[in-house]
Amino acid sequence: MRQLQRRTFTVILAGAGLAAAWSPLARAQAAGKKLVIGFAQTGAESEWRTANTESVKAAAKAAGHELKFSDAQQKQENQIKAIRSFITQKVDVIILAPLVTTGWDTVLKEAKAAKIPVILESRNVVVKDTSTWTTFIGSDFVEEGRRAAQWLLDNTKNTTGTVNIVELQGTVGSDPAIDRKKGFDEVLKGNARYKVIRSQTGDFTRAKGKEVMEAFLKAEGKKINVLYAHNDDMAIGAIQAIEEAGLKPGKDILVIGVAAVKGAFEAMIAGKMNVSVECNPLLGPQLMEAAAKAAAGQTLPRWIKTIEGVFPAEVAAKEFPNRKY
Ligand code: AHR
Repeated sequence: MRQLQRRTFTVILAGAGLAAAWSPLARAQAAGKKLVIGFAQTGAESEWRTANTESVKAAAKAAGHELKFSDAQQKQENQIKAIRSFITQKVDVIILAPLVTTGWDTVLKEAKAAKIPVILESRNVVVKDTSTWTTFIGSDFVEEGRRAAQWLLDNTKNTTGTVNIVELQGTVGSDPAIDRKKGFDEVLKGNARYKVIRSQTGDFTRAKGKEVMEAFLKAEGKKINVLYAHNDDMAIGAIQAIEEAGLKPGKDILVIGVAAVKGAFEAMIAGKMNVSVECNPLLGPQLMEAAAKAAAGQTLPRWIKTIEGVFPAEVAAKEFPNRKY
């Protein structure tokens, strides 16, 4: 089997040249200033999200900034309320992890009118006026979907017949759900024997992943060859449903997840999951660097991309001790 594993590392791809454009005074001011930062988080729906929150909190503390944290409990209206409250409190910078892509135009315009830079993290938005946000720090979700599909092609190339896939999508209307589907479908297009026979949202949670997988199993039974889950939490929930149905996850049904969280490594080591495509949640240090620059009026790259790998079950035991989330 082809080794797909790569070491994990996160870099600022396009930001390297920025510091050079700064005057030494601006740089010193940005580095030294203690900021008040408002963070409108989506919620705590997954292991990934918890690691993301912890990373931002720890990085803010290390930088000496005050972080006003809001957990939106998976509701966009709560995030909008939080942003408005941050504007009223006149914070220096707002960090937003947008639950879904749309519906942000008005509130982001309000932040811009109040001259508060907004940094998007982990998920992106679609708005008419793109000058209402400064930078997006996060993954290439289309590429993650492509990697998941490529793993499947590579690891089923010696089989014959139809490969029936069920898909657990992330939160409806969210950037990672839209793009992980797009990338996956793009790679499988033209490979007629790969068929997505069921596709439904599991809202990025274990409970919903299990519930929807139960329904898939009821409807399709042993016809299912592969599960593609848009995150590891849903894959882990689905693994339970597969076992309860008397089937062997990882063998009777290949299990593909996204995120590469510790729970996925445990499932891979137990032989119940086949691969996890990495999505790095440890964005805190990059966010603090970007917040300092944004507060100092610097222009940031539109996309500060995280670089990620793919971890198949074969490398899970060796890599597990190195995992940080
Ligand atoms: O935005 C990134 C996605 O959101 C992660 O894959 C998922 O686990 C999280 O909740």
